[in-house]
Amino acid sequence: MGFLSVLSFAHKLAAQRLQPGGIAIDATAGTGADTLFLAKTAGPRGRVFAFDIQKEALALTRQRLEKEPDETLAPISLHLGSHSLMKSTIPAEYHGKISVIMFNLGYLPTEQSDKQVITQTESTLTALEAALDLLLPGGVITVVLYPGHEGGSQEAAAVEAWASALPPRAAQAIMYRGIQRSDAPYLIALERKKRL
Ligand SMILES: C[S@@+](CC[C@H](N)C(=O)[O-])C[C@H]1O[C@@H](n2cnc3c(N)ncnc32)[C@H](O)[C@@H]1O
Repeated sequence: MGFLSVLSFAHKLAAQRLQPGGIAIDATAGTGADTLFLAKTAGPRGRVFAFDIQKEALALTRQRLEKEPDETLAPISLHLGSHSLMKSTIPAEYHGKISVIMFNLGYLPTEQSDKQVITQTESTLTALEAALDLLLPGGVITVVLYPGHEGGSQEAAAVEAWASALPPRAAQAIMYRGIQRSDAPYLIALERKKRL
């Protein structure tokens, strides 16, 4: 049967916390799979914000969303820009009320995409700090990391070090990882604890 894939495990953690009417962020829209999942889970009374720095990614996300009946999805705002700006982009009324924030790092997974355009350690860490601030207590951040490509292993190590150093009273951090292949993708997830 096998264990859940890293992506399925991220969706499972997200689905446990995101209720109909809830608010969620896809920090790396890519082809829109996570954006669609969040919009379906939050439903028409919810709200979803998605970020990507590539027009191509947002176009793919839009195409994917257009195939779904509108009335089944949360209203979605697609932002062309870095997730490191999420705090200033997302209206203040939503701050502290986000149930789920998903990051899927690395490059846009399409045949034609430029594989040099990848998430960068510095902006990823800035975005993670902002994400933690935006979360509802009990909300989660999921981060899928790709140590198998150039730049990805440094980014993964930096995210792991950042998450490990968080005070447990601020957030609980876990890792979901196959341990037989050091280059396989893995997941770090954080649950926000009560406000300090
Ligand atoms: C692995 S893909 C995401 C996959 C996506 N979740 C899906 O379902 O297809 C990573 C995405 O992050 C985007 N990205 C890179 N740097 C970014 C940044 N600073 N802010 C937001 N998105 C970024 C890339 O353009 C790429 O589309």
